[in-house]
Amino acid sequence: MFGLFKSAKPHTLTIEGVGEFTVNPKETILTAALRQGVRFPYSCKVGGCATCKCKLQDGQVKELTSSAFILSSEDLDNKYILGCQSQLKSDVTVFVDGLSDGTSVASVQEGEITSIEKLTADMVSVTVTLPEETTYVPGQYALFSTPAVSSGSRSYSFATPPQGNQVRFFIREVPGGEMSGWANHQAVVGDKVTIDGPYGDFYLRQGSGEMLMIAGGSGIAPVLAILEDAMNHKIDRDVTFLFGARTEKDLCALEDISRISRNWSGRFRFIPVLSEEPEGSSWEGRRGLVTDVIPELTDISQTYMCGPPPMLDAAEKCLRNSGMSENGIYCDRFTDRSHTQKAG
Ligand SMILES: Cc1cc2nc3c(=O)[nH]c(=O)nc-3n(C[C@H](O)[C@H](O)[C@H](O)COP(=O)(O)OP(=O)(O)OC[C@H]3O[C@@H](n4cnc5c(N)ncnc54)[C@H](O)[C@@H]3O)c2cc1C
Ligand code: FES
Repeated sequence: MFGLFKSAKPHTLTIEGVGEFTVNPKETILTAALRQGVRFPYSCKVGGCATCKCKLQDGQVKELTSSAFILSSEDLDNKYILGCQSQLKSDVTVFVDGLSDGTSVASVQEGEITSIEKLTADMVSVTVTLPEETTYVPGQYALFSTPAVSSGSRSYSFATPPQGNQVRFFIREVPGGEMSGWANHQAVVGDKVTIDGPYGDFYLRQGSGEMLMIAGGSGIAPVLAILEDAMNHKIDRDVTFLFGARTEKDLCALEDISRISRNWSGRFRFIPVLSEEPEGSSWEGRRGLVTDVIPELTDISQTYMCGPPPMLDAAEKCLRNSGMSENGIYCDRFTDRSHTQKAG
C-alpha cells in the first residue's frame, strides 16, 4: 500500500565520452542533457526528425512515441533510441554519434543577415554572414536562432555547398509559425542570428546508377546544395529530379536548376509536378502528386527526398511498392512542432 505513495527517484544517465547526469522522473534523456549543459544534438523534440538518436548501451527506457516511426530497421537493430522520446526506467548508458566519439564538428557562431530575397509568395532566401568560414556536407542543416523568437532555435538546411563565411537558407512560412513568420515578414538585413551546426546525416552517398531526387516546398534547399556540389565534382550519374509544389508560382530556384542541368555530367531529367495549378492555366507540365510519377520510373539505385513528412511518407510507401530497397532511400523530414506521433 505504501508503494502507492512512493515517489519516483531520479536515475543516472551516462553519455559515453561525456559524463554522468541526473535524470529526474518524467524528464527525457534530451531534456536532462540540455538542462545540464550537454550539446546533445536535437531539432524537433517531438520524435519526428531522428536528430537526437543515440545508441542504448545499457539499461532500460520508456519510449513516449514509437521510434519505429522514424528510425531505420538498421538503427533499431543496433539499439538506437530517440533521446527526446526516452524516459529512464533504470540507470542508462548511451552513445551519441559525434558527441561520444568526439567527431562532431558543430560550432556556434553569431552572424548577421546580409541579404533577404523573396523566392515565392511564402518563402524567402536568407543569407547570413558569419565571422569565420564554415564547413558542412551539402544536405546538412543548422540550428538557427534569433533574439526575436524566444521559443528557441529551428532547423534550416543549407541551400548551397559551403561558400566561405556565408550561409544561405530557404525559409518557408508555416501558418502560425514563429520563426518562419519572423523570417518572412519581420527580419531585415543587419539582424543578428545564431547559427549552430552542421547537423544531420542527409548527404550524397557513394554509389553508381541513377539517382532520384524528390523535393517538396522548401525541401528544395538541401537537394539544390547536393546537386550543385555533385555538379562541381563532375559526378556523372544520371539523375531524375521530382519537384512537388502547389502551383507554378510556388516553384523556385528554376534558374539554378537549369544551370545545374546544363552543366551536369550525366543525364539530368527535371520534372516539376503541380498539385493545385488552376485548370486552364498555361502550365504544360505534370499535374498531380510526385507519387503519381514514381511508378513510371525504373532502374533507380538511390533516392534522396526532402520536405514535409506527409509527402515523404507517401513517396516512401510508393518507392517500396515499386521494389526499392530500404538501404537506397535517404530522407530529410522537415518536421515542425505540429508533427507528433503517439506511441502505438
Ligand atoms: C532537419 C530539418 C531541416 C529543416 N529544414 C528546413 C528548411 O530548409 N526550410 C524550411 O522552411 N523549414 C525547414 N525545416 C522546418 C523548420 O525547422 C521549422 O520547423 C519551420 O520553419 C516552422 O518553424 P516555425 O517557428 O515557423 O513554426 P513553429 O512556431 O515551430 O510552429 C509550427 C507549427 O506547429 C504549430 N505548433 C506550435 N507549437 C505547437 C505545439 N506545442 N503543439 C502542436 N502544434 C504546435 C504552429 O501553429 C505551427 O502550425 C526543417 C526541419 C528539420 C527537422
Ligand atoms: S529531436 Fe528527437 S526526434 Fe527530433
